[in-house]
Amino acid sequence: MLEVKPKVLLIDDEESILKVISTILKNEGFTVITAKSKKEALQKLDNIKFDIILSDYRLPDGTGIQILEEFRNEDLITPFIMITAYGSINGAVEAMQKGASHYISKPIDSSQLVEIINFHLKKASFTNEIKEFEGIIGKSSQMKELFKEISIISQSNSTVLIEGESGTGKELVAKAIHKLSQRKDKPFIPINCSAIPLELFENELFGHEKGAYTGANTKTVGKIELAGEGTLFLDEIGEMPQLIQAKLLRVLQEKEFFRVGGNEIVKMKCRVISATNKNLEAMVEEGTFREDLFYRINVVHLRIPPLRERKEDIPLLVNQFLKKYSLENNKEIVDIDPQVIEIFLKYDWPGNVRELENAIERAVVMCPIDKIKIEHIPKRIINKAISKNNKNNLQTNTYNLNEIERKIILSALEEENWNQTRTAQKLGISRKQLRTKMKNLGLLPS
Ligand SMILES: Nc1ncnc2c1ncn2[C@@H]1O[C@H](COP(=O)(O)OP(=O)(O)OP(=O)(O)O)[C@@H](O)[C@H]1O
Ligand SMILES: [Mg+2]
Repeated sequence: MLEVKPKVLLIDDEESILKVISTILKNEGFTVITAKSKKEALQKLDNIKFDIILSDYRLPDGTGIQILEEFRNEDLITPFIMITAYGSINGAVEAMQKGASHYISKPIDSSQLVEIINFHLKKASFTNEIKEFEGIIGKSSQMKELFKEISIISQSNSTVLIEGESGTGKELVAKAIHKLSQRKDKPFIPINCSAIPLELFENELFGHEKGAYTGANTKTVGKIELAGEGTLFLDEIGEMPQLIQAKLLRVLQEKEFFRVGGNEIVKMKCRVISATNKNLEAMVEEGTFREDLFYRINVVHLRIPPLRERKEDIPLLVNQFLKKYSLENNKEIVDIDPQVIEIFLKYDWPGNVRELENAIERAVVMCPIDKIKIEHIPKRIINKAISKNNKNNLQTNTYNLNEIERKIILSALEEENWNQTRTAQKLGISRKQLRTKMKNLGLLPS
């Protein structure tokens, strides 16, 4: 199998460092492209898709952090490793906060560098795996399963019933099935069964002939005919009046119908996909939904899990909606406070993806700066998230500054065998400062 070499962008203004690191990385099988300034790096990032980026902190026309910030606007996944000067804990903390995947302090240990690069490449390819399918975002195992089912189902002609709570993406899934099917160039016609009054329902489905009733001045084609050889999407089918249920059943059996007031047979050629947020089986038991129709429309059954059952999809969805609404509102929202994500992960999202989408849209509109913070999120969501879990967790946010600093200090301590003097030197702080930080972080008894 032909393996493509991973592409590395190496940013440093020192010729000798570029040479040494390039040689090491080339020997390890990477393609290395170099840049000697911020300007050159940004230009290359614009034109080339790299697998990993390695940047020095200080550059003649700016800093590696500035490159990182611009880059993270566009790309949240590609690993970015910052090389910081020996003894610059602040630089390392800043880099991690701004979204660096790792920091390495000089002098660089080549075997460690290769190990870190390989680790992050592997991790990124893992995250990159699948996160979108026909416009449906998701990487949870439940969504991956659903993607598989959609691709299989799209190749058949059987009726499909999509079940899912409000806002889980039922319409999105119906459209994906249509787009992947052989009917993709034919119409996709939705009918919202909850929005049509009984007296207009037949008209909507079957159309009418001229003069069928008072006011019917012209012949009108109904949605089944409009769908032609495409897909008819019966949304909220649980709301379909019983009288119409009977008529629909008949059409699904006979595959033909008359327009209202007509006697010309019209063939039904479309595929039917239905969706509901009701429990249709329970409705059948209760006698409010026809059992025979239920079996007709439910040859294949798809269930979209509610968002609370697949919370790992939340960060992906957040990114997607941030991009979408920043663009729509002409704003450059580049960042979101990790505390907000934490709240989002705790909240149960009764309105599912639609509710999340609305929350992000609102936050983008409300946000006067380039970063979404907790104050841009509806109080209702925050209160519910907090009351659900204990409030302390909010302070011990795993992404927060303390945690980043703790990681940096811990790894420096480990590298220096817990020798405080050498660790302090490495981090560029006094031994006393190090001891204070260690106490605050619970690494030393206070
Ligand atoms: N997995 C997803 N990825 C991206 N966007 C999604 C996803 N799921 C839902 N959405 C978005 O959320 C919104 C609601 O989706 P959709 O209308 O398909 O849901 P629904 O299940 O039909 O909801 P309802 O029952 O309220 O009609 C849409 O804007 C849709 O684009
Ligand atoms: Mg819908």
